[in-house]
Amino acid sequence: MNLDQRVEFPSPESKAFLSVGARDLIRDGSLLHACVGLDYQATIETFHSLCADLWLVDLHTFKKTALLPLLLGQPRYELVEQQFTGRFMVASARLREPLVDGRAPPPFSASRCTEIYRDREVPGRLLRLHRLSQCAADFLQTECKPESLTAIMHNGDSSGEGGSGLRFFSMAPEHEGDRPTLLGDVYRTLKPTGLIISDGSNCDLPHLIKVRRAKCSSYEAWRDLEGRDLICGAHRWSCVGWLPPRYGPTLIWKVTAA
Ligand SMILES: C[S@@+](CC[C@H](N)C(=O)[O-])C[C@H]1O[C@@H](n2cnc3c(N)ncnc32)[C@H](O)[C@@H]1O
Repeated sequence: MNLDQRVEFPSPESKAFLSVGARDLIRDGSLLHACVGLDYQATIETFHSLCADLWLVDLHTFKKTALLPLLLGQPRYELVEQQFTGRFMVASARLREPLVDGRAPPPFSASRCTEIYRDREVPGRLLRLHRLSQCAADFLQTECKPESLTAIMHNGDSSGEGGSGLRFFSMAPEHEGDRPTLLGDVYRTLKPTGLIISDGSNCDLPHLIKVRRAKCSSYEAWRDLEGRDLICGAHRWSCVGWLPPRYGPTLIWKVTAA
């Protein structure tokens, strides 16, 4: 399932779709998949040939993924460099964190692994995969520069056990603590025209709630919305594609500061 295919007219059988204009928008851009969990492989498969940087951020990244290069054995990509930063270290072939002031810090917190690949099919093209073990809200708020992200994705999440409770596409603050709403940070860090990918998880925006846990396919939800502009605050949202469903249809929205 790679979105870099020139499908002009998707069918109900298509697994995923992105309009030609939106594909051009995201090409060579930077995508953040927040709270990615074990979904990172699907994200890489979907966007590897479109984006230059994929940011795969989860609190427990290095509990969930081994440190082997993610594209090992892929004939298209040659690993040029693998960089590790953060507080983890390798011991007995397993990752452990050093003690800080005699106490163990939270496991693998704020650790990062960046892999840089040369694309053998596209001369001069590099692909960078960044795996971060970090709170995705902290990453967005403290590390992402204004207008630096082309796409922000958050799906399959909840406020229940195992869920992050983070509300990226919501006007209300998170259920816990006094954090201000993350939607302002989403708009600040997204390009003036960027993509938002959501299945309605942890959302309260009316057009996203509509698809949350809807019983239709992503294709059907897109077909219902396609060609319509929805104004939400100071932004215009238009549905330009879809991915396989998670907790309901997963839709790709083009979001423009109005
Ligand atoms: C319900 S899982 C969803 C995973 C993935 N999006 C999917 O659809 O399979 C929620 C994920 O959020 C991660 N998580 C919880 N709190 C987080 C936080 N503050 N920042 C980043 N990730 C967090 C968990 O480790 C878990 O992988």
